Amino acid sequence: MTTPVAQIVDAAAYAQAVEDAVKAAAAYYAGGTSPLDDDTYDRLVRGIAAWEAEHPDQVLPDSPTGKVAGGAVEGDVPHTVAMLSLDNVFSADEFTTWAASLARRVGHEVDQWSVEAKLDGLAVAARYTRGRLTRLITRGDGTAGEDVSHAAGTIEGLPETLSEPVSVEVRGEVLMTTAQFEHANEVRTGHGGQPFANPRNAAAGTLRAKERAYTVPMTFFGYGLLPLPDTDTALAARLGDLAHSDLMVLAADLGVNTTASTAVPGRVARSSEQVLARVQEIAALRAQLPFGIDGIVIKADLAADQHTAGSGSRAPRWAIAYKLPAVEKITRLLEVEWNVGRTGIIAPRGVLEPVEIDGATITYATLHNPADITRRDLRLGDHVMVHRAGDVIPRIEAPVAHLRTGAEQPIVFPEACPRCGSGIDTSQERWRCEQGRNCHLVASLSYAAGRDQLDIEGLGATRVVQLVEAGLVADLADLFTLTREQLLGLERMGETSTDNLLTAISAAKAQPLSRVLCALGVRGTGRSMSRRIARWFATMDNIRAADATAMQQVEGIGTEKAPSIVAELAELAPLIDKLVAAGVNMTEPGATPPSPVGADEGSAATAEGGPLTGMIVVVTGAMSGPLEKLSRNQVNELIERAGGRSSSSVSKKTALVVAGENAGSKRAKAEDLGIRLATPDEFATLVADYLV
Ligand code: IVH
Repeated sequence: MTTPVAQIVDAAAYAQAVEDAVKAAAAYYAGGTSPLDDDTYDRLVRGIAAWEAEHPDQVLPDSPTGKVAGGAVEGDVPHTVAMLSLDNVFSADEFTTWAASLARRVGHEVDQWSVEAKLDGLAVAARYTRGRLTRLITRGDGTAGEDVSHAAGTIEGLPETLSEPVSVEVRGEVLMTTAQFEHANEVRTGHGGQPFANPRNAAAGTLRAKERAYTVPMTFFGYGLLPLPDTDTALAARLGDLAHSDLMVLAADLGVNTTASTAVPGRVARSSEQVLARVQEIAALRAQLPFGIDGIVIKADLAADQHTAGSGSRAPRWAIAYKLPAVEKITRLLEVEWNVGRTGIIAPRGVLEPVEIDGATITYATLHNPADITRRDLRLGDHVMVHRAGDVIPRIEAPVAHLRTGAEQPIVFPEACPRCGSGIDTSQERWRCEQGRNCHLVASLSYAAGRDQLDIEGLGATRVVQLVEAGLVADLADLFTLTREQLLGLERMGETSTDNLLTAISAAKAQPLSRVLCALGVRGTGRSMSRRIARWFATMDNIRAADATAMQQVEGIGTEKAPSIVAELAELAPLIDKLVAAGVNMTEPGATPPSPVGADEGSAATAEGGPLTGMIVVVTGAMSGPLEKLSRNQVNELIERAGGRSSSSVSKKTALVVAGENAGSKRAKAEDLGIRLATPDEFATLVADYLV
């Protein structure tokens, strides 16, 4: 789980790395959008630290390793006590090593730890004078921060007045919950602004913005309580003596929000093992939390241990951040796909330049709906912030607008349902196919009626929609029991088109089993697989009697596909029965049923004794002569009736290439490999007995 270190090879690369890190930190602390995601930034800083360890005499003064982290914003309000950062560990081993070094420093094993979520927001100090919130200051460079008191009223969890009139400073994190972030982006884009890339940037931008036409809420979680110069001496002494966990109870009693109100309250642990167990618990809860966390903060709980350990200039020695893997990365949005769900909802999905987030390669992320795409002004080619936590489906948070090049393209919304071609109901934010749940039926019937399946002329998608909408067909078999009166009752259906359609439907009943099987749309059985299955088993009864082992006898069906085909056919049993009852043919002409499982292979895969027996045949270019009217699928069927096997690519195994007019590279390849070539006419003569 250790974050790898960026490799820095020489002084020039080191200087560049420092410059990149300083820029990124400046943008981060100023509330802008960092050009680096957190993970990349961490790796860069670790690389810088590694190089500095080797070249201590060449450390640059502005290196991010040497000073109070990130301090880039000029602040004008001095902090009474420096607001420090935290050192990081990335694994249980690193934590154990750190805990051992702390034990050496304090002279004993630490046996009281406070383990808290590390909230992913911005550190602020809230000063209360006699119980009233008087000033709110950002961390700034750690010694002085910016006065952001104007934002106080918009921060939930940070009360105007405490429950007691005490003077104290509460320190903690300001963030936006996921819901607050979504709301903020809605309001912001509604005012013509660019959306924030993530909740952290949104909180930073909102906290510092002074004159905005709107306000959006944020949330505060306290994680520190300390005295101010005018704090009453007794209270100051008490605050100095209390364990951190007790300070947190006191903060909550005063009315300040803390993580005690969440699913990941701070807990006291008595050993390193208990700490690590709690780390795992918090990590497991992370994906479900309504706010972002980027790690776990582990603190020596007792004031005495903290005093003995002391602090460095950058971070205390008594606390550490156990960083969790980044859940956000910046990548590019390449395409948008539109998928139709079971209920007809048409949902956009982003295709991403693959990016690794927490060990998984992410290539897709949900985009909620068209309105959301418009609101966020997303474009193809945009750099986008992608969020993935736990098993939750990755989502695109927002475009990183300042990384735009100008070459980004608008996202085109579909005008017709991408599955069945019907109209789209766009009256709601979530678009829906006008066919709703019937969309699937329309699509599957249109497919079944297609040229390579039952080839029912006159039954295009529009007609199918009409039939479905009129309630005349609820499945494929219903097509075969349609009556003349029913069809005449439909709009734009005259006598001639009705009769033509009925003739075409009736003719479809005689289609070979391979096409009926294909029309059923069993997953994993397209045209050629349906033909192989039909030729192997010869009848639908044989297919239905086949178990997974028998199914695997068919070439191209392995251990994975066989059970799913068998199961899907079992599900389709009522429909198949209905088709049989309607008089649909369920046999494959020319095929003989297989011998029992275990007998010699290949007995029925192809027509024994045909002129193409055992041959792999590739067809390319335009067909002419007797083959002119045949679709490519029909030519392939012909090859198989004549005992051969069709393939779409030429290889050493190919026995014959039928090359028509405009045959290109396949013909050239056949010539290179010395494979037998035939013209469409020669081929037609060869298989003349099998032409129907
Ligand atoms: S304690 C002297 N506790 O993490 C101790 N910090 O990377 C300093 N943070 O600057 C802070 N959750 O902004 C502490 N439970 C928590 C925290 C927390 C988030 C932030 C804080 C800090 C940064 C260090």
